[in-house]
Amino acid sequence: MMRGDLKKETEVLWAGRLAEKPDAEAFAFQASIGVDARLAFDDIAGSKAHAATLGRQGIIPKDAAAKIGRELDRIAAELKAGKLAIDPAAEDIHSFIEGILTERLGDAGRMLHAGRSRNDQVAVDFKLYLKRIVPELRAELAETIGVLLDQAEKHTAAVMPGYTHLQRAQPVTLGYHLTAWCAALERDLSRFAGALSRLDECPLGAGALAGSGLPLDRKAAAEALGFARPSLNSMDSVADRDFALELSSCCAIAMVHLSRFCEDVVLWASEEFKFIELAEAWSTGSSIMPQKKNPDFAELIRGKAGRAAGNLVTLLTLLKGLPYAYDKDLQEDKESLFDSLDTLRSCLRVFRGMMRDTQFNLKRMQAACSGGFLEATDAAEYLVRKGLPFRKAHETAALIVRDCIEAGRRQIADRSLAELKARSKLFEEDIYEALSPAACIKARGLPGGPAPKEVRRQIRALRKKIR
Ligand code: ARG
Repeated sequence: MMRGDLKKETEVLWAGRLAEKPDAEAFAFQASIGVDARLAFDDIAGSKAHAATLGRQGIIPKDAAAKIGRELDRIAAELKAGKLAIDPAAEDIHSFIEGILTERLGDAGRMLHAGRSRNDQVAVDFKLYLKRIVPELRAELAETIGVLLDQAEKHTAAVMPGYTHLQRAQPVTLGYHLTAWCAALERDLSRFAGALSRLDECPLGAGALAGSGLPLDRKAAAEALGFARPSLNSMDSVADRDFALELSSCCAIAMVHLSRFCEDVVLWASEEFKFIELAEAWSTGSSIMPQKKNPDFAELIRGKAGRAAGNLVTLLTLLKGLPYAYDKDLQEDKESLFDSLDTLRSCLRVFRGMMRDTQFNLKRMQAACSGGFLEATDAAEYLVRKGLPFRKAHETAALIVRDCIEAGRRQIADRSLAELKARSKLFEEDIYEALSPAACIKARGLPGGPAPKEVRRQIRALRKKIR
């Protein structure tokens, strides 16, 4: 991109102060149009609100304000229709839109920037964009939760091992496991809503850092743009990027969640687990090994969580030690957050499709529940119910597990009642019913537990929250 020859007066907003044209390479280096072009419609909305304020407050003639408003509408329509292309050689989206406006309207266009700085402008645009995009992302999250809950609902009685330390721990159900994922995603949903609510303050009128001596109407402008209120302090408004940090963190946390779910998926798809059969449409092959069916999509989502974490660190590092108020460093904020938002969106869509089409190998899951003494905790609780202190019950059950292993038996129910009674007189015939995976699960019906009835309640509660 060559910027040596600056033909249009409007191309550089600060040409008055510097007699020399900017060095072409330096200009390209500091330009942000490649990143902030996606703010075009938000920039137009912000400028329309500002022009209306200027007209209403008598700062510029009413007809100039009206002309600006109409021309901005026209520019938006042309951009939408592809009749106007964003100039990749412009400095940023703000100077591009103002430049087009001035090219077309002359002096009326030159009136628009009264009482405004690109510092408040960029904060307004960025926030307007996020107010549009984050609700879309929340809808993607809600839809993903919906798909997982559909699968969970079908499998509230499908027994599978629950793991700690990646060792079989206690029997649970597939429905319970999937609902656990949904509980995490629902927190993401609410985290994004919280960040949006704190973001809802309009920086317009903050100027470069110290507001304006012109009689702007910040309240009306905030209202016109759909913000809850104007921001409290103008210096803070141009320095603040907490909203970007918070949203970046929301994305990073959601991506970490997805990466953990995907790790489960990768494990489950392995020959060693064989708990699921990924759909062919959501698998890849190998260029050399003809037999392979790989869970690349799950792996890639897991990998992309690293980007989201990196983007958060980028923003934190960018802001750390930055002197008040605006510094050009802040221009680096958007690329990082845009990438996190884009990444999360595409990962949610792929993850959702993959999980919708996955076949669960329920027999394998059920089989994995027997033979690993997953019922040992329930045997101990059986004894507690009969009055034995838990520590003793734990030891008794542990000794029975040892007995089984020594005798080459794979589950507690393989011991005769006489053998069990030798460890504790409290055992009765009813112990055998209490030890099946289904019975263990049914017994754990506390709020939050895996009993099918309780999981169905959890699913209903989550469905209510995503509605
Ligand atoms: N492109 C800039 C950004 O993204 C706009 C603000 C420029 N302000 C300035 N004083 N140079 O932050």
